[in-house]
Amino acid sequence: MQSDTQDQSAARHFYDRISHAYDLLADADEHEARERSLKLLAAKPGEAVLEIGFGTGHSLVALARAVGSTGNVCGVDISEGMRKVAEERLQKEGTSPTIDLRVAAVPPLPWPDASFDAVTLSFTLELFPPGDIPRVLSEIKRVLKSGGRLSLASMAKVATGESESMLERTYQWMHQHFPHIVDCRPIDAVSLLRNNGFEIKAEERMTIWTMPVTVVLAAPEKMTPDS
Ligand SMILES: C[S@@+](CC[C@H](N)C(=O)[O-])C[C@H]1O[C@@H](n2cnc3c(N)ncnc32)[C@H](O)[C@@H]1O
Repeated sequence: MQSDTQDQSAARHFYDRISHAYDLLADADEHEARERSLKLLAAKPGEAVLEIGFGTGHSLVALARAVGSTGNVCGVDISEGMRKVAEERLQKEGTSPTIDLRVAAVPPLPWPDASFDAVTLSFTLELFPPGDIPRVLSEIKRVLKSGGRLSLASMAKVATGESESMLERTYQWMHQHFPHIVDCRPIDAVSLLRNNGFEIKAEERMTIWTMPVTVVLAAPEKMTPDS
C-alpha cells in the first residue's frame, strides 16, 4: 500500500473530521452544480460509472438509480469518515449492494484500464495540488473505456466578461495563506481538461454566492494516426 503525501494526509484528516457535518456546511450551496453535472453525464442503464471524491454519497445514489441493476457504480474517496456517511446513505436508500466503495488516495485510481463508461467528480478536482492534476486526468483517461466520458463541477476562475468575484479572490487568498483550512481553490477546469487531452463537449457556468462554478462534460480526444 502506498503511503500518504503530506497533502493527502491533511486531506484525509480534514474530511474525516468534517464528514458528519459536510452536508450542513456545503450541500445547500453545492447540490445544484452537482446535479447539473450528473445531468450532463446522463448515466444509462447497464453502464459502469466511477465517482472520485464521493463525499457523503448523494451522487452515488443518483448514479446507482440511473445505471440500475444491470449497471455498476464504483466510488473512491480518501476519507474513511466520508465512506461511513456515504454507506449509511446508500443503505437508507436501498442502493448499497450494487456499489463498490474504496478508501484510497487518488492518484492513482485503483481500477484496471478501460473499466468505466463514465467518470464524475464534484468539487474535488480543485483540491488536488496543481502538480497532481495532470496525473489525475491521465488516470481518468486510463480507466475510461473507448468512447467514455467525464463530467465535473468545480469552483471556477472568473471568465472574461464576468464581474469580479470577491469570494473567488478570498478563496485564492485563504488557500494561499491557510491551505490547512481552505483546501480548495478556483481552477480553470476547461483549460486543464484541454491541456490534458480532453475534448469539451458541453460547459455550463453558474455562481454560488458570487463564486463562479463550472460544470463540464468532456471526453478523451480521439487519437489520430499522427498523434
Ligand atoms: C469538497 S468534498 C466533495 C464531496 C462530493 N463530491 C460532493 O460534491 O458533495 C471533496 C471530497 O474529495 C475527497 N478527497 C480529497 N482529496 C482526495 C484524494 N487525494 N483522493 C481521493 N479523495 C479525495 C474528500 O475526502 C471529500 O470527500
